[in-house]
Amino acid sequence: MLSGSKGIALGMAGLVLAGFVAYLALRGLTPPLPPPPPEVAQDPLLSEGRQLYFDRCVSCHGTAGKGDGPIAKGLQGPAPRDFTTPQWKYGNTASETLQVVTQGVKESAMPGWKGTFSPSEIRAVTAYVYFLGGRSVPTELRAP
Ligand code: HEC
Repeated sequence: MLSGSKGIALGMAGLVLAGFVAYLALRGLTPPLPPPPPEVAQDPLLSEGRQLYFDRCVSCHGTAGKGDGPIAKGLQGPAPRDFTTPQWKYGNTASETLQVVTQGVKESAMPGWKGTFSPSEIRAVTAYVYFLGGRSVPTELRAP
């Protein structure tokens, strides 16, 4: 028979082990991001934007920004936009794009990110949308 304190110690060790196994199992479900391309890795704004994009935008807009994320097909209303098209629906300027990302689009699945992201995070994720569109990042997104 185990004495009381030994039993407790063993129980605790078991809990720690179970927690660790659960952690490994969950980590396996969300694979780490593939390494960024060099033009992103060398640019702190785009690196931050990429992380935010993969956390919050990829489900609808897809990894390459083509509007083909895993939940895109099941949405009500207009489809998520493909950022690689030459003319963006809500305009190509930094202020127009910031407006869409900040406020979202009414009557569509596109949420506004004002309450989720800080102004600098909104600029970073918007910059990453320009990168996915194969465009240069407008200077307004770099300096507030
Ligand atoms: C739940 C799905 C969903 C998520 C998540 C989402 N979007 Fe959208 N997004 C949409 C839809 C749908 C539209 C198209 C709205 C329309 O056509 O009126 C859109 C449109 C846009 C546009 C306008 C593009 C254009 O052509 O003018 C931008 C920019 C954009 N999203 C950026 C983002 C960013 C950045 C994130 C993450 C922070 C994000 N979206 C997350 C669904 C989503």
